[in-house]
Amino acid sequence: MVDRQDTPTRPVAEHERGADSPAAVFPPSADFAARAVAGTDFVESAAADRLRFWGDQARQRLSWHVEPTETLDWSGAPVARWFADGRLNVAYNCLDRHVEAGHGDRVALHWEGEPGDSRSVTYAELTRDVSRAANLLASMGVVAGDRVVIYLPQVPEAVVAMLAVARLGAVHSVVFGGFSGESLRARIDDAQAVLVVTADGGWRKGAVAPLKPAVDAALAVGGESSVRDVLVVRRGGNDVDWTEGRDHWWHEALEGVSDVHEPEAFEAEHPLFILYTSGTTGKPKGILHTSGGYLTQVATTHATVFDLRPESDVWWCTADVGWITGHSYVVYGPLANGATQVLYEGTPDSPAPGRWWDVVEKYGVTVLYTAPTAIRGFMKAGREIPQARDLSSLRLLGSVGEPINPEAWLWYREVVGGGRTPIVDTWWQTETGAIMISPLPGVTATKPGAAQTPLPGIAVDVVDDLGTPVADGESGLLVVSEPWPSMLRGIWGDPDRYAETYWSRFGDRYFAGDGARRDEDGDVWLLGRVDDVMNVSGHRLSTAEIESALVSHPIVAESAVVGAADETTGQAVVAFVCIRDSVTLQPEGKEAMVRELRAWVTRSIGAIARPRDIYIVGELPKTRSGKIMRRLLRDVAEGREVGDTTTLADTMVMSKLEAQVRGN
Ligand code: WTA
Repeated sequence: MVDRQDTPTRPVAEHERGADSPAAVFPPSADFAARAVAGTDFVESAAADRLRFWGDQARQRLSWHVEPTETLDWSGAPVARWFADGRLNVAYNCLDRHVEAGHGDRVALHWEGEPGDSRSVTYAELTRDVSRAANLLASMGVVAGDRVVIYLPQVPEAVVAMLAVARLGAVHSVVFGGFSGESLRARIDDAQAVLVVTADGGWRKGAVAPLKPAVDAALAVGGESSVRDVLVVRRGGNDVDWTEGRDHWWHEALEGVSDVHEPEAFEAEHPLFILYTSGTTGKPKGILHTSGGYLTQVATTHATVFDLRPESDVWWCTADVGWITGHSYVVYGPLANGATQVLYEGTPDSPAPGRWWDVVEKYGVTVLYTAPTAIRGFMKAGREIPQARDLSSLRLLGSVGEPINPEAWLWYREVVGGGRTPIVDTWWQTETGAIMISPLPGVTATKPGAAQTPLPGIAVDVVDDLGTPVADGESGLLVVSEPWPSMLRGIWGDPDRYAETYWSRFGDRYFAGDGARRDEDGDVWLLGRVDDVMNVSGHRLSTAEIESALVSHPIVAESAVVGAADETTGQAVVAFVCIRDSVTLQPEGKEAMVRELRAWVTRSIGAIARPRDIYIVGELPKTRSGKIMRRLLRDVAEGREVGDTTTLADTMVMSKLEAQVRGN
C-alpha cells in the first residue's frame, strides 16, 4: 500500500520562494515516519550531546581494532583530530567484516558497462579481489603513506584499486577521467605519487574514450616524475603504447598473486585520500581526508539520510568515483554499510535516452542519488521516457551538487518517484567529506529547493561579512560552526592555504564559500557560490584556472571567465578573451581561433572545462584599481541589460564590448 500523505499542505511564505517556486511542503509519509532508520530519537540524541553522539556512531557503525576513547581534539585548530586513540583498517570495514558476519554472498556491486556487458561482484569476491590487489601493490613496493594516483573509468577495478590502496594504509588520489594529461601530471607531481593505476580506455557515449595516452603524455613531459610503475586495466580494448619496465597489465600482474591479505590497523587520523578540487586560484587544492572520522560520517549519513536497509535496498549513486560524491557514496559509505549497489560506466543517454531507467528497472534500484543537472536533462528529453519504464522499485530519491530548482525537484518526485518518494536535497562539499545539510526522510517535512536542516551532530550558521548571524529571511554566508568528523584535515603540502582559505575569515568557524538564507522555520536555502568557483553540471571549476589556461596560449593577452546561468548545466563557462596587439585577426579567422582556444583549454585542463562560449573582445571592463568586473561580464553572458558601470575606469568599455560580443 502506498501511503499518500504527500500532498502539499501549507503555503510557503512569500519570501521563501522565487517567482517560480511552488507553495508546497511534503511531510514524511506515515511509512517513513514509523520505520525510518533515523527518527526523532536519533535527532534528539545528537542535540543532547553532540560529541557523545559522534562517539557512539563511530563505535556502533565501525569495527575498530582498538576502540577510540577520545572523540575530538580541537586544540590545534584548524586541524581537528577525531577518535585519535582508535585504530582501524578502512578496507576491512568495507569488506571483510561483512563476510565474517555471514554476508559474503551479498552482491556489493552490480556493474553495468555502457555497451551492455555486466558483472555482479559479491562481498566475498570483492574482499578477495581487494586482498589480491593489495598484495600486488605491496610487492611493487607501495607502503603505508605512499601516494597512488587512480585514473580509471567507472569500472569495478576503480573500487578495487581504491580499497587496495586504503588497505595498505597508502593514500589514493583519484583523478577524474575527464581531466587532461597536463592536469594529471600536476596532480602526480603535487602528491609525489609512486604509482598510477589506469586503463587503456573506457566506454563513453557509445565509443571508447582512451585514458592511457593521457598518462603517457603526463609522464613524458616536465622531466622525471615520481612515478615508478603504471598498472593498466584492460577495458576499452584500444591500442596503447607501452613503456617496458614501467607499464604492466593489471590482469597479468595479478596472476598467481595470493588473495589472502591480513589488514593492518592504522590510527584513526591516518591519511586515507587526497582529492583535488578547484579553488579561487589557478592551482587546484589537494583536499586531505583521514580514516576514522571520515568513515564514521560517511557511514552514518549514508545509512540515515538514505534510510538504508542493506538486506533489501539496491542503492545507486550515479556519481563518478573521480569526484567526492563517488568516494563517499559509491565507495566508502555504501560499502561500510554493507549495501548492494549499482555501478554504471557510461552516460545517461547511451545508447538511448532511457538508459538510466532501464538500469533502475533491471536491478530494481530502490534509492537513487543524482545531480540536478541530470534531472534537468531528463526533463528536457521528456517525461514519456522514464514513464515508459517500471520505476516502482524506487522509494527514495536524493540530489547533490548544486541548488536544485523547485521545478526539477517536483518533476523528480512526480515523474521518477511516482509522486510517492521523499526527496533529500543534500548539501556538502569535497572539503566536508560527507553530507552536512539535508532533510531526514522520516523526520523532515521537505520543501522543494531547500537542503533545509543541518544533520544531527552538525552545526551551521548564516552570517554577514563580519561573522554576525543574520536574521531569518536575510541572505548571508554559510559557515559550519563546530568541527565535524569527516572534515578535511588540510590541503596537501599547503597548511597556509588551508588556514587562509577556510579559517581566516571567521576564526574557528569554517567558511564554506556558499551563500545561504534561513527561512522563518529556520530551514536553510543554499544560494550558490560567493567566490569565483563555478558549478558546471555539478562539477566544480575555477574561473582563475581557466583564465590561466587561456592566457598561456601565445595569442592571448588577457582573459576573463564567468559562470553564466545555463538551463541544463546550472552554469556554463563563458570566456572573454583579448588578443595580443601583435596578432592581426581577420573576421573570418575568428571562428577558427575560438575553436583553437576551446581545444587549448581541453588540452590543458580537460574536456569538462571547455568553454561553452568564447568571445574575442578589445578590452575587459576594469575598475580604476584594475580589478576585472565579472559581474558586468555575467550580465552580457546571460543576455541581460548591463548593470551599474560607474566604477569602471573607462565607462565606454562595456558598450564596445557588447557590440563586439554581438558581432562574434
Ligand atoms: C554546491 C559536491 C546547493 C555548493 C558534493 C558547494 C550544493 C559545492 C549542493 C561543492 C546542494 C553541493 N545545494 N549547492 N544540495 N550540493 N552544492 O566539492 O556550492 O564538488 O560548495 O562537492 O557544490 O562541490 P563539490
